[in-house]
Amino acid sequence: MKTPIIIPVDQLIQEPYASVLCFPNPNENEVQCRIQELRNHSVTALEFSGTASVFGVPVPVLGKGFVGIVVIAHLNMERVAVKIRRTDADRADLLHEASMLSKANSIDVAPKLIGASKNFLLMQLIDGYLLPNWLKTNREKTLVKLVLRQVLEQCFRLDQAGLDHGELSKAPKHLLVDKTEKVFIVDFETSSVERRVANVTAVCQYLFGGNSSAAKILDEIFGRKNRLELIDVLGAYKKNKTRENFEGLVKFCLS
Ligand SMILES: Nc1ncnc2c1ncn2[C@@H]1O[C@H](COP(=O)(O)OP(=O)(O)O)[C@@H](O)[C@H]1O
Ligand SMILES: [Mg+2]
Repeated sequence: MKTPIIIPVDQLIQEPYASVLCFPNPNENEVQCRIQELRNHSVTALEFSGTASVFGVPVPVLGKGFVGIVVIAHLNMERVAVKIRRTDADRADLLHEASMLSKANSIDVAPKLIGASKNFLLMQLIDGYLLPNWLKTNREKTLVKLVLRQVLEQCFRLDQAGLDHGELSKAPKHLLVDKTEKVFIVDFETSSVERRVANVTAVCQYLFGGNSSAAKILDEIFGRKNRLELIDVLGAYKKNKTRENFEGLVKFCLS
């Protein structure tokens, strides 16, 4: 990883930082407003480091999606993650995401919410890897089981709480494994407490039913699951989301 670049808030007006703060359409007014918004969160500096990048901007970031760009923020000595709302996001603010994240936190899921406003969501910084990348270098079955058990268990808790994440069937960017092998589900932007929950089934499809790079590695570790049997155990759980049916599913997937 390249050397991190730490920029105090009052220097974020400069390029290329302004372009990250206001991606993809920086304008001076909006940059100034956002700098003030960061100050309101007591952010003293932003840190540009990580393995992701933003098109046309020559500084590294932690991650990016269609709604946000995630970088590190400094609150004096504390380092946290901040999701910056893209200027072209089809969301007016990040407050819905904050409320969903807070609900997830109440059942001990996801990075802890620290603060939120129109354009910023501050949360616990996860120092780790996206699951597909983690799996490239961690193939020991017992360890992989331990990590996947956490993924499934957290999805079960979300199901029980009536909170549907919404983006777990295509989850390559939404499951993080930190350096102590703890799992964090991220991005509650499309989450809902109104939809029917499908966290466990969606993540199982992604991990064991599909053609993703993670699924391919898991096939090598656990052997290819019989599709019909998978549909059966998923169906039983979907019909009746009990602990017993959940354990049946876990046993099938992780043996
Ligand atoms: N708390 C966090 N700590 C570290 N990295 C994070 C954190 N939250 C998100 N990321 C990284 O940033 C990426 C984009 O965040 P995400 O919330 O998915 O944005 P979007 O809603 O635009 O898809 C994630 O895929 C992940 O790699
Ligand atoms: Mg995302």
